[in-house]
Amino acid sequence: MSCPSVKLNNGVEMPILGLGTWKSKPNEVTNAVETAVKEKGYRHIDCAWAYGNEKEVGEGIRRSGVPRSEIFITSKLWSMHHQCVEEALDETLANLGTDYLDLYLIHWPVPLNPNGNHPRIPTLPDGSRDVLFDWKIKDTWSQMETVLKKGKVRAIGVSNVSKRILETDILPYATVVPAVNQLEIHLYNPQHNLVNYLKSKGIVPQAYSPLGSVNSPLLSDETASEIAKKHGLQTPDVLLGYLVAKDIVTLPKSVTPARIASNYNGALAAASNLAKEDIEKLDGVAASGKQRRLIMQQWSVDLGFENWPGQTP
Ligand SMILES: NC(=O)c1ccc[n+]([C@@H]2O[C@H](COP(=O)([O-])OP(=O)(O)OC[C@H]3O[C@@H](n4cnc5c(N)ncnc54)[C@H](OP(=O)(O)O)[C@@H]3O)[C@@H](O)[C@H]2O)c1
Repeated sequence: MSCPSVKLNNGVEMPILGLGTWKSKPNEVTNAVETAVKEKGYRHIDCAWAYGNEKEVGEGIRRSGVPRSEIFITSKLWSMHHQCVEEALDETLANLGTDYLDLYLIHWPVPLNPNGNHPRIPTLPDGSRDVLFDWKIKDTWSQMETVLKKGKVRAIGVSNVSKRILETDILPYATVVPAVNQLEIHLYNPQHNLVNYLKSKGIVPQAYSPLGSVNSPLLSDETASEIAKKHGLQTPDVLLGYLVAKDIVTLPKSVTPARIASNYNGALAAASNLAKEDIEKLDGVAASGKQRRLIMQQWSVDLGFENWPGQTP
């Protein structure tokens, strides 16, 4: 089954399903990527420098034998690299063994001290994150625009960015509007307001942790399970297909071949089988008392998200 794609605001096409690679161990991810691309139909891989496995992902892509030009590859600028975007991108390109990315995202709108006490998450003596409060995200974004102009990436975007940060720190200064905002979006954290806002700006929402990540409570959700049963599908199919049906680019991670296959086929089957009333029911699950973020990062900064414990909307 070929995967539908969505068109980014610069005309680039992106497959609506992609394979996630966070927490995929280096010794597992090469096989996972090779299998996904060679045998299961995936043409979109979501990576990040911070996942520490880009070299092995690149190896999986090469082993698949599918031409580079047919695969959509995303990677992300880590928070310690906001001041040196091109250098960080060059390292990612070398890791992956490619000379361009299809999409490069700012991983978090929180610049961290590149000379701090840790190679990925530097902290201060009180345990809070070592944030570069003086650095402006607009200056990171302008470097993202430079690598786009140089042709090293086909599109640029952001991740974990709220409406407030987009409107105050990025859009007023941007020459290029971000093509994508990758966010925690799933049944228990649907972010309806932010998703609708992004769509109104022509920014494509991407859903990370669409299955609820590791040890997910979503897999036993009653509403999703009932709807799955009604259609002869599995619960993960409904969790993924629900997002695809709403034109949200969806990035399930698995290193298990059977799940890699069933996530792809099941998501597309569910997206075409779910009725309007199913989507409406699923849309209401979080608001019925199940609203919950599953990936909490304590950044020591107010990111401006709704439903972020300890922060105002
Ligand atoms: N931008 C960001 O800040 C950010 C943050 C988080 C994630 N992401 C991206 O989004 C991707 C997906 O998010 P995620 O990895 O947090 O979580 P996820 O895709 O929601 O869930 C992955 C977990 O579910 C398991 N799983 C996969 N398919 C399954 C199935 N059909 N039935 C039961 N269990 C299943 C996987 O196990 P196995 O692998 O063992 O099969 C793994 O433990 C990441 O890998 C990453 O690429 C981005």
